Amino acid sequence: MTHDLTDLLGIDAPIVLGPFGGLSSIALTFAVSELGGLGSYGLYGYSAERIRDTIAQLRAATAKPIAVNLWLPTGDEVVPADVDLAPSLAALAPLYEAAGVAPPSTPAAFLPAIDEQLEAVLDAAPAVLSVVFGVPDAALVAAAHARGIRILGTATSVAEARALEAAGVDAIVATGAEAAGHRVSFLRPAEDSLVGTFALVPQVVDAVGVPVIAAGGVADRRGVAAAFALGASGVQVGTAFLRTRQSAATDVHRRAIAAAADTDTVLTRAMSGRLARGIPNRAMLTIETSGVIAPFPAQNWLTAVFRAAAAATGDGELLSLWAGQAAALAVREDAADVFAELAAGLPA
Ligand SMILES: Cc1cc2nc3c(=O)[nH]c(=O)nc-3n(C[C@H](O)[C@H](O)[C@H](O)COP(=O)(O)O)c2cc1C
Repeated sequence: MTHDLTDLLGIDAPIVLGPFGGLSSIALTFAVSELGGLGSYGLYGYSAERIRDTIAQLRAATAKPIAVNLWLPTGDEVVPADVDLAPSLAALAPLYEAAGVAPPSTPAAFLPAIDEQLEAVLDAAPAVLSVVFGVPDAALVAAAHARGIRILGTATSVAEARALEAAGVDAIVATGAEAAGHRVSFLRPAEDSLVGTFALVPQVVDAVGVPVIAAGGVADRRGVAAAFALGASGVQVGTAFLRTRQSAATDVHRRAIAAAADTDTVLTRAMSGRLARGIPNRAMLTIETSGVIAPFPAQNWLTAVFRAAAAATGDGELLSLWAGQAAALAVREDAADVFAELAAGLPA
């Protein structure tokens, strides 16, 4: 049985814009929500103040439901006192030099406190909070529901989907190994949780009673039709929307997606310390070759300075070129065209 995700989330079409930590834009989130889908915005690394400001901007842009996304702590995040950054700084020296930036000095913290981030989200009460890298605790689910916020959890395996359902999430994003960006596994190492979307979605649908949203490799009407045939109640799409002019991707990133073939993405821990899918470039290969990768989030913080400089100058060799295996299907340059194409695959 297919659930009605549109009723649950208050949207017209069960098409979700994937959140992009670091690359979300108000314009793209607004566009997808206004078109009748669920526009999502990734708040990874945002301070509480920036979260309040961003949700206020989204609210001002659209009265339609929007989702915001946070990364839950898994417990294995290192703090500055845990790590000797010297070997990483040495390994990354050629990349700082190439970007023309000084190596960063050690911060007080690599990431904002999750409690403060969650408090800001709960206060702002967006229609939907989606989470990755774990299970929301009972207090968070209760607080969200008390404010009328729906919670989406994200699973890379059947066991993760079961854990999320037991925690009381309203729907589950089942994300296959084709997907762009980080593998958001939390029960087993990401390398051991690489189930493809086509295999994952029906198994998750069979395992849980809540609606399942298929993510990973869905980029056109055929992917949407396939997801529904597999029992999904909706789709979450990243790469195809990242290619559009409304996204916050740099032009060089958009061009890399446009040029990518099916075999042109890889999984790497090089850029953040956690496994993620993207298009190889000089930064990724230099780090892989050095063999020195600090644990998350230290590595993400160490690479951030040259990635930011490269984004400003449009140097695609020093960015994270996150993209999924269906990048070659991401041919449309306007979010409305992507949305219309996806909507053509929805069940009548
Ligand atoms: C640049 C980038 C950043 C992403 N950041 C996040 C994130 O912070 N949280 C999240 O839940 N998903 C994140 N994702 C995954 C997408 O939301 C989406 O689930 C995925 O791209 C779907 O697979 P597809 O790219 O094959 O369509 C990111 C993807 C990209 C391309």
